[in-house]
Amino acid sequence: MADAKPALQRDLVTRGLAAREARWLVDEFYLGADPDAFVALEGAVARRLSGEPLQYVIGHWPFRGLDLDVDPRVLIPRPETEELVTHALGELAALDVTTPLVVDLGCGSGAIGLALLDELAARGVRATVVAVDESTDALAVAKRNALKHGLHQISFVHSSWFDDLDPSLRGRVDLVVANPPYVGAREFTGLDEVLRYEPYGALVAADADGVEGFADVARVIRDSVAWLAERAVVVVEHGEGHGDAARSVAHAAGFAHVRDEKDLAGKDRVLVARR
Ligand SMILES: C[S@@+](CC[C@H](N)C(=O)[O-])C[C@H]1O[C@@H](n2cnc3c(N)ncnc32)[C@H](O)[C@@H]1O
Repeated sequence: MADAKPALQRDLVTRGLAAREARWLVDEFYLGADPDAFVALEGAVARRLSGEPLQYVIGHWPFRGLDLDVDPRVLIPRPETEELVTHALGELAALDVTTPLVVDLGCGSGAIGLALLDELAARGVRATVVAVDESTDALAVAKRNALKHGLHQISFVHSSWFDDLDPSLRGRVDLVVANPPYVGAREFTGLDEVLRYEPYGALVAADADGVEGFADVARVIRDSVAWLAERAVVVVEHGEGHGDAARSVAHAAGFAHVRDEKDLAGKDRVLVARR
């Protein structure tokens, strides 16, 4: 019944789906002529047509080399965050430690920490990741993704940022990576409604230092210093308007080398600070 697929796709396009999405949904849910496949496809189409993000409807999404399970308990990993992983890998290579200890703060689906583990292993580097989130729901998804990809050098900690981390890690971490919430509450009300499907606490942060949505970015940068080893690095994704404030927080916190990396649109988006 493979021939049924083009007709199903055309039908979905006439019902309002983009051609690419129609193809993805048919490929994902239409597994044969059995009635259950139609029911599953119809359910998925109804969810997508009601506005739910395609990633949640499909239930998994690629992030760098990994196919990650995603559902409404976690943020959908973004392409900008794939860039953050590139910068983090570059910093670790420059640090040249054989068994790096990495803390992934606000791990969500596990995207950053798991991609780092996966790609470092491919380079022969045996890293250990401590993945932290204040959402137990997010931690459950991240654990499932670690199992799915057979990535075992990772532990999971339920904590608000560094608050409940094992104190023996202080001064020993080689890399802190984070993509904290960084949208201001006021800004959030003006953004695309599709963001309402994602966890509010994954997106929205309080204002700080007179900057909208900056509180968590500032906290992660400031608090990292005490946990990092000599010459170790924090790599933090931040909002488009946060570059100046993030660099000045990093300088004030005592980091020796501070820079911002730009996204593809040329905007400062990732703070890199080395002790
Ligand atoms: C923007 S999402 C990033 C998720 C994932 N790292 C990624 O890049 O796709 C922010 C994450 O930070 C978590 N978070 C928010 N406040 C937190 C806090 N105080 N302590 C720890 N995690 C927090 C949220 O639950 C969410 O999973």
